[in-house]
Amino acid sequence: MVDFSKFTKYSKPGPRYTSYPTAPEFHENFKEEDLVSFYKNQSDDRPLSLYIHLPFCRSACYFCGCNVIFTSKEDKKVKYVEYLKKELQILKKHLNTNRTVSQMHFGGGTPTFFSADQLKEVITAIKEVFPNFENDAEISCEIDPRFFTQEHMDVLKDGGCNRLSFGVQDLDPKVQETIHRVQPFETTKNVMDIARKAGINSINIDLIYGLPYQTKESFAKTIREIITLNPDRLAVFNYAHVPWMMKTQRKFDETTFAPPSTKLEILQDTIGFFTSNGYKMVGMDHFAKPTDELFQAIEKGELHRNFQGYTTKGGADLIGIGVTSIGNGIDYYVQNFKDLKSYEAAIDSGHLPVFKGYSLNDDDILRQYVIMELMSNFSLDIKRVEEKFNINFEEYFADAIIALKEFEEAEILTIDSNKIQANETGAMLIRNISMPFDAYLNNIPEDKRRFSKTI
Ligand SMILES: C[S@@+](CC[C@H](N)C(=O)[O-])C[C@H]1O[C@@H](n2cnc3c(N)ncnc32)[C@H](O)[C@@H]1O
Ligand code: SF4
Repeated sequence: MVDFSKFTKYSKPGPRYTSYPTAPEFHENFKEEDLVSFYKNQSDDRPLSLYIHLPFCRSACYFCGCNVIFTSKEDKKVKYVEYLKKELQILKKHLNTNRTVSQMHFGGGTPTFFSADQLKEVITAIKEVFPNFENDAEISCEIDPRFFTQEHMDVLKDGGCNRLSFGVQDLDPKVQETIHRVQPFETTKNVMDIARKAGINSINIDLIYGLPYQTKESFAKTIREIITLNPDRLAVFNYAHVPWMMKTQRKFDETTFAPPSTKLEILQDTIGFFTSNGYKMVGMDHFAKPTDELFQAIEKGELHRNFQGYTTKGGADLIGIGVTSIGNGIDYYVQNFKDLKSYEAAIDSGHLPVFKGYSLNDDDILRQYVIMELMSNFSLDIKRVEEKFNINFEEYFADAIIALKEFEEAEILTIDSNKIQANETGAMLIRNISMPFDAYLNNIPEDKRRFSKTI
């Protein structure tokens, strides 16, 4: 066992780099007309990846960091579906929606908190506007097992869904009670059975470590039980504690959190457990069976990072649909309004509901490549960067190379003129290793950084 006490100093606020630049850099000077001109300039040959945000949940899981609206009102859902349909019609005016679609993801919130009929209405509306789905398009949906029926499965399957992701988080009763998400093992097992019977052969399970009252032993028990369900993939997220943004997280007694050294041990035990049971680590928080294309993508150097974590489908332009959703192309990010009122008002006046965005410059595109490579592969081919961007790496990134020295001295990273390579422990600290390449983070004093902690 590695002595993790010497690494706890790296437990500092830092981005998870689902985007670069990160969301705090998005600004309101980015307007609808900017987005429209990006859409106009996009190549028709680039496929589209659609993200549809379905924001509602019945009750709050106290740990949740997602953009969620809590409601039990049926009319809110009916109204939301109407607005999604209107948004699609506005989109059609500005984007060539005849481009092929290689990916579609329903996220939330809890997509299956909508009824099966409502989901069907949404899928039908999307396919009318985007008629050219690739035959092997990846169509996926996030599922809360507490809200999932055979009817939901049938509608999703008819809509071409071939991947599901189930939220579990933890199986320990005390942890479940504290996080306000009581979900017996049987509930998860039953919905997995429904999905398998429907022929879904790519199932992911989400877990979180770092939650209140979790211990090495309790989490080991959770993963031993979870593996009996035979998921194809797992996402084991580091709990992102951001109580200044998420009110419900303030309910937690912070003294019940495992300290950083224990969290690193939990992570190491988790990596050991899944790898000795036939899974491979993919990126910093995913595991996949060797037969899964996510793992195969690493071998081919085709693993990409995006807002949903990791994906095999790069080279597509992401279109975010629905309140709060984020889209991006080669040189921009855009986010829809986060509150329903502004979102609806924009759509009522015939506009795309653009809240914020960001146009990337050449330096952003270079740094984005470097950071995403590190986050996906734990290594960076320096020669490739120099050729691709026509730079001298050592000169361009002189500051970052100096900042990486401490990781070299800690023997978790090697750098030579060809390559940066993190070892297994370095992989667990890849956010810290990527941070020196972030031009914006380095302008913010450490005590003013509003990100979750890296450990
Ligand atoms: C939108 S939810 C998944 C679907 C569904 N709402 C559910 O909870 O089952 C997305 C996932 O994000 C993860 N997540 C949410 N809040 C988090 C946090 N604060 N830190 C780390 N992971 C978090 C959870 O694992 C959760 O399953
Ligand atoms: S974890 Fe899922 S179900 Fe729980 S509040 Fe967040 S989005 Fe809703």
